[in-house]
Amino acid sequence: NHPFKVNQNGHLEIGGLDTTMLAENYGTPLYVYDVSMIRSNCREFLKTFNQLGVRGKVAYASKAFSSIAMIQVIKQEGLCLDVVSEGELYTALQADFPPERIHLHGNNKSIQELTMAIEHNIGCIVVDNFHEIKLIEKILYELDKQVDVLMRVTPGIESKTHHYIMTGNEDSKFGFNLKNGQAEEAFKALYKHDLIRFKGLHCHIGSQIFETDRFLVATKVLFNTLAEWNKLYKYEPEVLNLGGGFGIRYTAADSPIPYSTYVDALIHDVQHHVEELNIPMPEIWIEPGRAIAGNAGITLYTVGSMKNIPGIRNYISIDGGMTDNLRPALYQAKYEGVIANKANHKPTDVVSVAGKCCESGDMLIWDLPVPAVEDGDHLAVFSTGAYGYSMASHYNRLPKPAVVFVENGKEKLVVQRENYKDVVQHDVAYF
Ligand code: LLP
Repeated sequence: NHPFKVNQNGHLEIGGLDTTMLAENYGTPLYVYDVSMIRSNCREFLKTFNQLGVRGKVAYASKAFSSIAMIQVIKQEGLCLDVVSEGELYTALQADFPPERIHLHGNNKSIQELTMAIEHNIGCIVVDNFHEIKLIEKILYELDKQVDVLMRVTPGIESKTHHYIMTGNEDSKFGFNLKNGQAEEAFKALYKHDLIRFKGLHCHIGSQIFETDRFLVATKVLFNTLAEWNKLYKYEPEVLNLGGGFGIRYTAADSPIPYSTYVDALIHDVQHHVEELNIPMPEIWIEPGRAIAGNAGITLYTVGSMKNIPGIRNYISIDGGMTDNLRPALYQAKYEGVIANKANHKPTDVVSVAGKCCESGDMLIWDLPVPAVEDGDHLAVFSTGAYGYSMASHYNRLPKPAVVFVENGKEKLVVQRENYKDVVQHDVAYF
């Protein structure tokens, strides 16, 4: 129940390569991305804009997975890039990503981050709060520059997802609230500014969302506000950025819809509102992260110790865990996996996959059907391409794994495995 092939040796393949060979050559844990899937995800988002002849931008939310190689692929596919920190911006610039295609997000952008963004003439800053408006003004006056901005608004709706990854609800740290006048106050400060070029509104309702209707509720709320601002200030937005959050399949319980369905629904919905309001069609921007990187990546592990508690549970332990995939521990996220070197064997057992960290909550998968497992087998976990490496930590002083890209039967190491020297590199002896 996954998009990857099994070769004649019964081994799982990714991008035309044997995962057992990759695990042996590069060591485990190992993140492996099928680059052709990253590309086809990008193209699927762009396709609908082209088919409908609507001006728009697709920005990859690089928080899902950022590395120089990844940003190079995104650049080649012609997308824009959403960054949320100086570190992500730095990575993008190191990858030679065109600054004018970069958008900066964040609810507490520092003066250094904003200065770096403005000095490099990035495409757009998504303004989140009043403090930030003051910082941007200060930098623009000092540098005698101008910048395009969108204003992030909080529509005050709940998306059907985990509470931690809901972002559009009224009680949220992100954006200007629409319902209490703060958004209008910010709008008045921005829309006729002499240095800030106010381009429009941004809203993001949450992540891993499987239906279009919540997005459409958000656009309705946005257009209620736009109708008011149009009446009061004759305002017509040039851009509407409707965020990311398009869901992917982690397990059989998830039923994602095609990415084109979201884009199609959003565009038609905006067209309908625009006609009603009798204003020009704005550019539609979206910001998928997970939907581009998530299903293109898998993680390979090696099985070590095993423990059977008769009548209760079979544990198998792998050489990674919450340090390379925090999502199960943080969100109770569910994953599927197979024994990569026995991918054609019928499942005979049910095991629970434990990480190696000193933490009972470090469980990667509960109750996974598998064939008879032996130590040294390789476990492949699917759909780990988003928010896996990017949320990895050094807990228990584990070095971060390597990342390999594969495409058309060829592999390339794109992030080196850390070693113990890397782990202590910033430590300073006390004595
Ligand atoms: N745009 C904005 C403003 C966002 O805050 C986010 C995600 C995205 C776009 C991209 O969302 P995506 O398309 O990837 O769902 N660590 C969590 C997800 C946090 C998402 C935060 N913001 C997880 O592992 O599920």
